[in-house]
Order: sequence, then structure tokens, then C-alpha cells
Amino acid sequence: MKSVDERYYDDHPGSLRLAGGGRRAFPDGATHDSRWITPFPIYMTRSEGAHKWDVDGNRYVDYVVGHGAILLGHSHPAIVEAVREQMGRGTHVGGATELEIRWAEIVNKLVPCSEKVRFHSSGTEADLMAFRLVRAYTGRDKILKFHHHFHGWSDYVVLSPEGEAAGVPQGMAETVVQVAPEIGEVERALDREPEIAAVILEPTGAFGGMLPVTPEFLRQLRDVTLRAGVLLIFDEVITGFRTSLGGVQGRYGVTPDLSTHAKILAGGLPGAAVVGKAEILDMIQHRGDPEWDARRRVAHPGTFNANPLSAVAGATCLEILDREPVNERVEAMTERLKSGLNGVLAGLGIPGFAYGLASGVFVALGVEGEWDEENGCTVPDATLNASKDPARAGALRKALLNEGVDIQGGWSWRLTAAHTEEDVDFSVEAYEKALRALIREGWPVSGVAAAETAAG
Ligand SMILES: Cc1ncc(COP(=O)(O)O)c(C=O)c1O
Repeated sequence: MKSVDERYYDDHPGSLRLAGGGRRAFPDGATHDSRWITPFPIYMTRSEGAHKWDVDGNRYVDYVVGHGAILLGHSHPAIVEAVREQMGRGTHVGGATELEIRWAEIVNKLVPCSEKVRFHSSGTEADLMAFRLVRAYTGRDKILKFHHHFHGWSDYVVLSPEGEAAGVPQGMAETVVQVAPEIGEVERALDREPEIAAVILEPTGAFGGMLPVTPEFLRQLRDVTLRAGVLLIFDEVITGFRTSLGGVQGRYGVTPDLSTHAKILAGGLPGAAVVGKAEILDMIQHRGDPEWDARRRVAHPGTFNANPLSAVAGATCLEILDREPVNERVEAMTERLKSGLNGVLAGLGIPGFAYGLASGVFVALGVEGEWDEENGCTVPDATLNASKDPARAGALRKALLNEGVDIQGGWSWRLTAAHTEEDVDFSVEAYEKALRALIREGWPVSGVAAAETAAG
């Protein structure tokens, strides 16, 4: 029987050929850290619904879903049509459009904290703007973030939990306070650091919910920040419109001062926004006062802010989400996937469990534990985080690609409205085949011995 690597080479000759060009053109041969995969990446040609196809004609059930940007399924006909029509009218009119108002109005309708909106091109930019707004608004320089919570790749937030990152000036790193997501730690940091302007977090937990935080933690955080006079920012770049129509804030009724959005916001095209209290967003507003306008107002240019293609794709997508019970459908399909993956683990005698809320799924492999939405996970973050170990995640991703399934980074499954029962059942079978293939190669999952017996 072929090894995982042998199958990977044999089934993907076209990708292997293209990878030479990729390596000449790009560091790592890749254009995104999480697309870096050894020995070579798979080169995709097209995507539709829940599927995508590579240059060798292999079909995949897709759980990367545009790094979480796709919720209606790839190439949704209404979005394709709206973008096609707009392409003919102009991709950049260099001025205001009615589309940007339509887009902002649906955002204001859906996102509870949103009184005003400012559009950007990426989630990284939206988070950067949120930091600048809260600094200007409070007159304080520091931001509190949580270990491992991801807020893009800007200098402020790319830091390791130890506060380091190559190429980031020390002075910049000193403006960021990092603590574990525990309310006592937050209270102590706010007491210790009067310069903190705001607390930012991924409101389902680090890595899109892989290291979960509980709704109770969000409620406590809201109380503590209000008492301390510190602003609260939800980074809803990945959770927005996905965990509910109103994101995490809509799901739990905890309203931050600002939230940042991207991905689904722009219907699968590049686009992002910072939204929230009007008086904070209005730090960007000109006031006709020369001192304010020249020195105290927050500047915000950006060539592709609210560009017409992203605006029409975003507005079309969000209006569909508003009209149709998409989230409910996706969530039901996600439950089917979770219980299927749990069934595979039980069947193979591998300790572990699939968890995650709304349309996101993670698997804690090799450990016993439990997760539920209200109480979070019984397994410590450090143990859950081990599933992201690049060697282990890379091996699983490769083995799954061989079976016709693609998951992000080898650790994150996300669904769309286009995933059917058939897709999910196929993926569960693929997961079992992938695990069996890895186990045959001596993959270090505790409980492997039992699994080998089960695998026969
Ligand atoms: C929670 C969160 N914040 C920010 C970002 C950065 O967004 P972008 O990749 O659009 O810059 C991401 C991207 O995955 C994210 O998941």
C-alpha cells in the first residue's frame, strides 16, 4: 500500500510541476503562511458550491472556504451576477457610490454595535484602524490582547505571547499588553496599566474558536471594561455573520464598543470594516476646525476602501443572509460533521473529540475531554493548541487532500450553506481513511495501539 506521501506525489503531478515556479517566485513557494504545505501545495483551478478542483482534475470538499470568507458557497450565482454586472460599469469610480451606502446600511442593520461604518480592504487594516480610533478617542496608548488571539499581521498584534516578532520595533511591542483570557488577569492588567485604551479579542476564542472562551467570559469582560472606562473591541473578522447574523455579539447579546469585520462581510471579495459607536467612528470626521482637522482627527485614506466590486458582493451576500435562514442550515450540517468525526474517533478507539460552535469545527486529538458552548472546553489551551503543531497538522492535511477533502491549516473545518449531507458524509469517511493511513505510518496519536487493532 502506498504511503501518504507517495499518494500525494502520484495523485498531484500537475501541482508538483507548478510548484517549481512557485518556489522560484515566492518565499516558501507560498502566498500565505497557512497555504504553505510540504512537499508542495495543491494548485486549484476553480471552485463552486462546497467543492473545488485542482489542476489534475481532483475534486475536494472544501472546508477552507476562502479562509472563512465564503458562507453561501463558492461562486454563489447572485454574487457572481452582481459582480459581473458591476465589472462592466467600472471597478473603481474614484468617488462615492450608492453601493457603499447599501453595503453600510445592511451592516448597520445586522451588527448590534454598529452605528457607523468605515470600510477597508482587509481584516488587518480594520483592526489597525480600531486601534488608532481607540487611542485617539481615549488619549491612551496601550491595547490589551489575549495570548494567541489573532488580529492580522500588523506590528501591534503579530507578537508571540512573549511579546516578540521579527521586524517589530521594541517600542511598538511595548504598547501591547498580553494576558491569558481569564477575567482576574484582565482586572489585574487594567489596574496595573492605566494607559490601556481598549481590550480586543476574538470573541469565540483564539484561532477562530479553537481555544474557546465562554459567553460568561464575554459578559464579565464587558462589565470589567465598562467599570474601568476601557473600550471593548470584538474582532469579528471570522465570527461575523457566521456565528449568527449579528456575529458573536448577536448570538450572546454582549455589545462591544467597536467590532471589526472582513471575510463574509465582502461576499468573498477583499473587504473589511470597523464599525461601532458613532462618537468613536467620528474621530475620522472633519469638523472644520483647523486644529482638529490637521492634528487631532484620525486620518483614513485607502485606495480600495468600499470599492464597487466588494461593495456589491458584500451587500448582495449580507442581504441574502438577512432574507434566508442560512446560518440555521449551516449549523445543522456542522452538527452532522461533528458527530460524524466523533463517531470515527470512537470507532478507531482514538481519544479525542470534535468541537466548535456555529459553522466551525476543530478536533482535539489524543486527549479525553468535553466541550459545550456555555462552559467551553475541559482541555487546557496548551493541549488544544498542540493540534496546530505544523508537522502534525501538515500530515493530516496531506492525508485528507489525498482523500478529497481540504481543511484550513490541517486543523480547522468551516462549512457553508452549500455543504450537503452527502458532502459531510463523504468527508467523515475521508477523515477515517486519512487517520488510518497516518496510523499505519506510526502517527503519534495516543491510543494508536487500539486504533491499529481497529484498523485491522
Ligand atoms: C480574527 C481575525 N482577525 C483578523 C484577521 C486578518 O484579516 P485579513 O487576513 O483580512 O487581514 C483574520 C484573518 O484570518 C482573523 O481571523
